[in-house]
Amino acid sequence: MQRKVTKAIFPVAGLGTRFLPATKSIPKEIMTLVDRPLIQYAIDEAREAGITEFIFVTSRGKGALEDYFDHAPQLEFELLKKGKTELLEILKNTNMDSGAIAYIRQHKALGLGHAVWCARRLIGNEPFAVILPDDVISAKESCLKQMVQAYNEVGGSMVAAMEVPRDKTSSYGILEVGQQHENLLAINGMVEKPPQGDAPSNLAVIGRYILTPSIFAHIEKQKIGVGREIQLTDAIANEIALGQAVNGFQFEGKRFDCGTKAGFLQATISFALARNDLRDELADYLQELVSVSNAAQ
Ligand code: UTP
Repeated sequence: MQRKVTKAIFPVAGLGTRFLPATKSIPKEIMTLVDRPLIQYAIDEAREAGITEFIFVTSRGKGALEDYFDHAPQLEFELLKKGKTELLEILKNTNMDSGAIAYIRQHKALGLGHAVWCARRLIGNEPFAVILPDDVISAKESCLKQMVQAYNEVGGSMVAAMEVPRDKTSSYGILEVGQQHENLLAINGMVEKPPQGDAPSNLAVIGRYILTPSIFAHIEKQKIGVGREIQLTDAIANEIALGQAVNGFQFEGKRFDCGTKAGFLQATISFALARNDLRDELADYLQELVSVSNAAQ
């Protein structure tokens, strides 16, 4: 029987340069997908997976994130007074129980591996999840929930895996894959952003992980990797090299890379089209755009 995964780390200390100038004053994770900030999707996914302790690795300028999870008594009072119960319910979903959320600072953006390492004392001696909020995954059952269920069966460490086009492998952490059993892949190695043509497969790691505390020792020893950052991929690759079992999990669902402008726009359209209150109007508009552009050709 595996120890339960109840803690999740949300590394949100990155600079978000691909969304400048917006991210000069707004944390990337507060940017809204339809009407909810990216971070809300990540929190909902974690809750669905049974996570009860939420650890944010933040940095300077991310105060809006902390405020977002605070109670807003004045706003709640006004909504109550006006009988706006539906909005009140939506708002309550953003509140976190006292003590369920912790913030820790990464003083320098030294990379994802380093951000995760900053939370080591809050993790203690338990397995934990890592969620990157800019990877938004739309799925019937949340991606992390699928992973936790698989982890409860097989243990070890686990990374979410997804096939990507061969010519895009240099943008991802790529898996060297051994045996496959249904959704689970035994991982023999991992390489962060391999040069074009060097990728061991076209299976990429997506921003969901279940790790064990032994990873912290590997991050600590870690040299600067690709992009002059301390990479989580390199630390996991070290664990694999020392015989730790690491599985890739091919989740069911669609992943949107909301760390890029194109991915964010695709997610916005897709999530809006999935909403009853927006679908018809947006679909009509998109159709109109397509026919105008076809007519112009
Ligand atoms: P990204 O590679 O997307 O970097 O980080 P970024 O800084 O957020 O965005 P760009 O590339 O400048 O546009 C992936 C995840 O790792 C976190 C980010 O916040 C994001 O959730 N991260 C990255 C940190 O927490 N600290 C770091 O030093 C680097």
